[in-house]
Amino acid sequence: MLKIGHVQLGTNLLLAPIAGYCDLAFRLVCRRQGGVGLACTDLLSPQGLLRGTATSLDLARTNDEDKPVGMQLYGGIPEIMAEGAVWAAEHGATIVDINMGCPVDKVTKKDGGSKLLCIPDTTAEIVRRCRRALEPYNIPLTCKMRLGWFNDQPIAEKLAPRLIDEGVQAVTIHGRTTEQKFMGVVNLDGIKRVVEAVGNHCKGAGLNVPVIGNGDVREPGDAKAMLDATGCAGVMIGRGALSTPWLFRDSWSVITTGTHAPEPSTSEKLEIVRQYMRFMLQFRDEHYCMFQIRRRISWFGKRLGKELDHRGRPVGCRGLKEAVRAARSPDEVYAALEKFEAGGLRGIDSVEATAEAAG
Ligand SMILES: Cc1cc2nc3c(=O)[nH]c(=O)nc-3n(C[C@H](O)[C@H](O)[C@H](O)COP(=O)(O)O)c2cc1C
Repeated sequence: MLKIGHVQLGTNLLLAPIAGYCDLAFRLVCRRQGGVGLACTDLLSPQGLLRGTATSLDLARTNDEDKPVGMQLYGGIPEIMAEGAVWAAEHGATIVDINMGCPVDKVTKKDGGSKLLCIPDTTAEIVRRCRRALEPYNIPLTCKMRLGWFNDQPIAEKLAPRLIDEGVQAVTIHGRTTEQKFMGVVNLDGIKRVVEAVGNHCKGAGLNVPVIGNGDVREPGDAKAMLDATGCAGVMIGRGALSTPWLFRDSWSVITTGTHAPEPSTSEKLEIVRQYMRFMLQFRDEHYCMFQIRRRISWFGKRLGKELDHRGRPVGCRGLKEAVRAARSPDEVYAALEKFEAGGLRGIDSVEATAEAAG
């Protein structure tokens, strides 16, 4: 089983940070489904946390059920990152993670995110300072990186061992480069090379630092396939969880018993959406809840309306998505979910219909 520093996880599956998506409400939805060994906050600005800005505090919100939790910091200034690490340690983090993978200009222009792959001395200094700052709290430090910045320059396999020497206790590797952003498919060979480089380094140094693979896990069999293909010690799941919050439970079932659990029923899936709404209303407010559900119903919709019509085609959930996007209150969303449960609000999206008509 996966252990990060002294923190023993219940499974070796982790919920990834997805800025704007993996809030406390969603982390709890995934945890209630089972199989989540660790969940991570979205990337947090240490300056925002230290100043106590409302946005940063909302993003860092956690509670007793939301454990173990990684708090992810981004930035390029070692002192401030270390102060942010202390803030996280004092506000409920089980683990502190440093973002070394974000490809967004706003972040990389300030030496944060995947820019850290290109400035290894600064990155090592950040790790050293954070490690030292976290020592009194006995909280492990981890990092999440990409394979490199440019497609033809693998950096992670060299940088990861160096950062382990500075005190990083787990490395998550997203099998893409910054240049790729989110395009193409995950490079399992690239992840494997990082696993091997870290393994060789640790053997020599008498250490045991897990490498966690990440990228494109969408179906329960994908996590096991990544473990088998790369030798990684754990798997982090991002976008797959947005449509399939039960993916951790089902992936864990495949990993531990080789069995594929049956897909939840439509009623169970709708109850997950309701639960997510209730958590958002509990932790935030109606405005936030409506903003999130309107944009996220298409993610949940990927797993709804799968039953087949008399011609053998999925019935779809276009009507539900339209009704939720048009809803003006949580009650209207609940009403739409009820109508769908009763058999209404079906229909396939026009793009799907066009594709089908084109054969
Ligand atoms: C919209 C979006 C926001 C993301 N935000 C973060 C983030 O805050 N921190 C981070 O380390 N990675 C972030 N990622 C990257 C994911 O954690 C993950 O590495 C990537 O999506 C590949 O994994 P997946 O295929 O399982 O989603 C983000 C990805 C997306 C699509």
